[in-house]
Amino acid sequence: MTPIYETIINKKTTNTPIWLMRQAGRYLPEFRQIRKLNPNFINLCLDENLSSEITLQPLKRFGMDAAIIFSDILMLPYGLNQKVEFKKDFGPQLGPLDLDKISNIDEVDFVKKLYPVYRSIKKVSEDNLIKNKNLIGFIGAPWTLLVYMINKHSPKKKLIKNFFEDTFLINRILLILEKFLKLHIDHQIKNGATVIQIFDSWAGLLEEKDLPNYVYIPTLNLVDYVKSFNIPVICFPRGVMNYKNYCDIVKPDVVNIDYNVDPISVCKEINIPIQGGLDPKVLLTDTENLKKKTLTYLDAFKDHPYVFNLGHGVLPETNPDMVDYLVKTVKDY
Ligand code: CP3
Repeated sequence: MTPIYETIINKKTTNTPIWLMRQAGRYLPEFRQIRKLNPNFINLCLDENLSSEITLQPLKRFGMDAAIIFSDILMLPYGLNQKVEFKKDFGPQLGPLDLDKISNIDEVDFVKKLYPVYRSIKKVSEDNLIKNKNLIGFIGAPWTLLVYMINKHSPKKKLIKNFFEDTFLINRILLILEKFLKLHIDHQIKNGATVIQIFDSWAGLLEEKDLPNYVYIPTLNLVDYVKSFNIPVICFPRGVMNYKNYCDIVKPDVVNIDYNVDPISVCKEINIPIQGGLDPKVLLTDTENLKKKTLTYLDAFKDHPYVFNLGHGVLPETNPDMVDYLVKTVKDY
């Protein structure tokens, strides 16, 4: 059994496995080299040779316990024919949202459009580097995708005015997203993903009273869907105030915590395996501080099934040697 399965399924608390969100990205010179020659990010995600190569880069370099497929949560609106662009120093920019157009998307056309992603997963799953390791497929949670589709760019701290005005539109989009996210999950698993992570990066923008409608219910449906394949599902409701409530209702197999969560108290409150937590900014400091902060997490989760990860993605300005030091610290614990 893979180290991550030992933790998630057998609830083992020794030999803590490690992988990092955004482990394949701009902080790696070998990634930047490919990226430089491929200015269009979407096309890079759709190049099965390059995206599989990028996916494996952090395994080659650091020996991570999992690969996460090099793609993006916004490939879903792209698959639904909403324009998606990634602008330098700005981030994603989406085009107009046409409900009539999106309501009429054919499942076969959607899968055709995203087919290179699935082929890339297949390629990675057949590589020697992934032997006895996990290949993580992922989706954006319906709420987070809705935010991008309506807001059109990253909301930073708040949503555009009148975000909730058109409830008919919102409810229709949520249902369409559920249908196509299931299809996306299905194809990722059938091509070799052995864990699915659901990123709800903007869960923290909602008030408590809105969580059931926009976060709990839509995510629960997808969590149940992943479980029907007998594949573990990790949820990351970033910034949500009450992780315990979230786990009690949504029931993921693993929950990823953000860096504002206190590891010692969360460990007492939540019974399922936990992932992540370390502030990615710690990787921008020095090895002494990195070791100290890493040990805080390892000590807190000494008797709790724990997958080492960060509280958000690796920052582009990170020195790869610090990542190497982090992996060694976790492996030597
Ligand atoms: O984790 C991994 O290594 C796998 C690949 C992955 C990417 N995006 C690649 C990427 C994953 C899992 C994602 C998820 C994703 N994408 C999320 C959820 C996690 C989170 O960060 O909260 C979100 C919100 C997005 C949307 C997105 N994609 C944004 C906001 C940006 C711009 C910010 C940035 O860092 O540039 C992206 C672009 C993106 N996705 C990059 C990568 C490697 C950078 C693209 C580049 O090279 O310019």
